[in-house]
Amino acid sequence: MARSHAQSVFGRLFSDSVAVDLGTANTLIYTDDGGIVLNQPSVVCFDRQESAAGRKRVALVGDEAKQMLGRTPVNLETVRPMRAGVIANFPAAEHMIRQFVGMARPQPFFARRASFTLCVPSGATQVERRAIREAAAAAGARKVNLIDESLASAVGAGLPVSSATGSMVVDIGGGTTEIGVIALGGTAYTGSIRVGGDQFDAAIIKHVRNNFHVLLGEQTAEYVKKTIGSALAIVPPDTMRATGRGIDDGLPRTVELSTQDIVEAIASPLRQVLGAVKAALENAPPELVTDIADAGIVLTGGGALLGNLARYFSNELHIDVRVADEPLTCAVRGAGAAASAGLVEMSAYD
Ligand SMILES: Nc1ncnc2c1ncn2[C@@H]1O[C@H](COP(=O)(O)OP(=O)(O)OP(=O)(O)O)[C@@H](O)[C@H]1O
Ligand SMILES: [Mg+2]
Repeated sequence: MARSHAQSVFGRLFSDSVAVDLGTANTLIYTDDGGIVLNQPSVVCFDRQESAAGRKRVALVGDEAKQMLGRTPVNLETVRPMRAGVIANFPAAEHMIRQFVGMARPQPFFARRASFTLCVPSGATQVERRAIREAAAAAGARKVNLIDESLASAVGAGLPVSSATGSMVVDIGGGTTEIGVIALGGTAYTGSIRVGGDQFDAAIIKHVRNNFHVLLGEQTAEYVKKTIGSALAIVPPDTMRATGRGIDDGLPRTVELSTQDIVEAIASPLRQVLGAVKAALENAPPELVTDIADAGIVLTGGGALLGNLARYFSNELHIDVRVADEPLTCAVRGAGAAASAGLVEMSAYD
C-alpha cells in the first residue's frame, strides 16, 4: 500500500522517538527508521580512579563490560545497574544509558533530543518509575513515556492487543517474569514475580555445587543453560562439559553435565513461574480467560528460549502455548510500535 502524504509527514514527526528496553540482562534501543539500533548486555565497568572532577569514569559498557563480569582487574569495578527490571544503582544506570544512546545514534540524536518510550515492569513502584524517568532525562530525553513491559511485549509478539478478545503474554526476562492479560489496548490483569533467567542460572550453580562439589561462575552457568537447558527431560539427553572450581581443593575441575541435571536444577524456579501463570489465569476476568483458553498463551523474553518451555507449560496448563518470533526483541519493538499508536503515558522534561 502506498503511503499517503499525511502518513509520511506523521512519520517524520515521530522519527525522533526512541524506544528503550532497559532490562536486567539486556538493553535494546529501537527507532522507527533504524529498527533495533542497539542490543547490548546491561553491564557497565568503571575505572576505580576518579576523574579530576571526582566523577567515576566509564571504562567499558555492554558486551565488553559483560566479559569482565567475574574476572575484573582490581582497578575496574563491574556493575549490573538493573535488578528485577528496575534501577538498582542509579549513577551506573545513568552512565550506561548515556553511553548506549551515544553508541546508538552518535551525532544527530543529541541535537534533536528525542522522546523516549521505556518499558517498565508492572510491579515497579512509583519511586522506581521516577528513577527510570530521571535516568532517561539525564541521558538527554526530551520527553519520557513509560509502557508496561507486558503490553509492549504483546504488541511486539503481534498479539491483537486492541481487540476486545483477551490475550495472555508471559515475558520471562533476566530478573523478572511479567504476565499480562491484554484487551482493548490495555492490561486487564498484570502479574510480576522476581524470578527470571538469573534465578535459573543461580539454581544451576547450586545444583552443580551440591551434586558435583564444583563452583561454576555465573557466565558459565548461563552458557550451560543456553546450550543444554530444558524445562522437560529429553531422550537421549544432551551433554556438555563445564569447568569451575573444586569446592574441596580449590583447583579447576571439569564436570560433564546433562540435560537432566538442568531439568532438576531449575525445577524450583520454573514452578514459581508456572505458579504465577496459574495465579493470572485464576484472577484475570473470566471472559478474558475463556478467550485465552481458545487463543493460547504467548511466551516472550530471553527466558522463552529455554528448551521445551512451551511444551512444559502446555502440559501443565492444558492450554496451547507458543514462543513468539524473536522473543528477545519483542518488548522494544512493541514499545516503539505502541508509542506510534499512542498507547503510552507521557511526561515532558523541557
Ligand atoms: N537460549 C536460551 N535459553 C535459555 N535462556 C536464555 C536463552 N537466551 C537467553 N536466555 C536468557 O534470557 C535472559 C535475558 O532475557 P531478556 O533480555 O528478555 O531479559 P531482560 O529484558 O534484560 O530482563 P528483565 O525483563 O527481567 O528486566 C537471560 O537470563 C538469559 O540467560
Ligand atoms: Mg525484559
